[in-house]
Amino acid sequence: MTTLSVIKADVGSLPGHVKAPNKLINEVDRVLEEGKDENKITDYYIGRCGDDIDLIMTHDKGKNDSDVHELAWNSFEEATEKAKELGLYGAGQDLLSDAFSGNVRGLGPGSAEMEFDERESEPFLTFLCDKTSPSAFNLPLFKMFGDPSNTAGLVLDPSLHEGFKFTVQDFYEGKKADLACPEEMYDLLALIGISSKFAIEEVKKKDGEPAASVSTEKLNLIAGEYVGKDDPVAVVRCQSGYPAVGEALEAFSFPHLVPGWMRGSHNGPLMPVSEEEATPTRFDGPPRVVALGFQLNDGKLVGPRDLFDDPSFDETRKKAKKAADYMRRHGPFQPHLLGEDDLEYTTLPDVQDKLKDRFE
Ligand code: F6R
Ligand code: MG
Ligand code: MG
Repeated sequence: MTTLSVIKADVGSLPGHVKAPNKLINEVDRVLEEGKDENKITDYYIGRCGDDIDLIMTHDKGKNDSDVHELAWNSFEEATEKAKELGLYGAGQDLLSDAFSGNVRGLGPGSAEMEFDERESEPFLTFLCDKTSPSAFNLPLFKMFGDPSNTAGLVLDPSLHEGFKFTVQDFYEGKKADLACPEEMYDLLALIGISSKFAIEEVKKKDGEPAASVSTEKLNLIAGEYVGKDDPVAVVRCQSGYPAVGEALEAFSFPHLVPGWMRGSHNGPLMPVSEEEATPTRFDGPPRVVALGFQLNDGKLVGPRDLFDDPSFDETRKKAKKAADYMRRHGPFQPHLLGEDDLEYTTLPDVQDKLKDRFE
């Protein structure tokens, strides 16, 4: 069995929250190379989206392995030291604990993992986001695995025709349920349409074989206060019984509105970009998603191909820029501003308290 572990964190960037610089990547690279020499992992690639560093690792130790998670944690700690030395912004921002304790879950970094027997040829994609939250994947994952208007294979290919199972997490209750699609599609949509409460955590084939996994940690709920956006990652298996690469990518051809952007408190369009263009600048955004495609070969990573680095996504980016203009014109008003419960920054309690005697 091969395990894919994508573990990410924001441990500092420049200027402000725009980009994790190469000097941090070099630190992470050194630690992961050592981990590879010590056979803790088989292979790795270090991706980046905005101020987030994304470790794409392969190994044979299963999900939630403490050695693998500790390796990731140590690499982020080394990068944090470098970020402090360079005076970068938000140094160590996502490392919420002073010490590692068995698993990165709940400690700040996000993780999306999957364990499976490699097929004869195993293409997979990783989607890396910045300035948004895990529920940003609700719409595209539904399109990929549930919507025949997006994924022709659901209609045409006997190996996809029976559909998929979606694991939906209620992230306020910390509970999850599996829903089968197409049988329970309307129930599924009733939940995942409410992206402030429900997020797709996993997608599986009907026989339980993993298809997709999302990092669903919500940092604001972990820390009880704002400590940075959760900026999720997702892993998606493709071809031969799964959506084709182009079907998975097609799900991002519409730049849908996601929560995040400036101060994690605004709705804005999710713009698919190349790694090079994952530098959210306008109003700290708009939110970005990068797609890196690999082939697995006996646990080794072949690739990546930077998939949104393609002219076929130019119109999507143009639409995202128009949507960004349109949303910005709302200034401090909803629905550009998120609902009261989802604001990462707010002065509302203080303002209400100050004015309480003036409301009659
Ligand atoms: C959003 C984000 C940024 C910051 C903003 C204010 O996820 O990271 O938009 O929220 O730049 O940052 P601070 O509070 O660090 O000055
Ligand atoms: Mg940051
Ligand atoms: Mg970020």
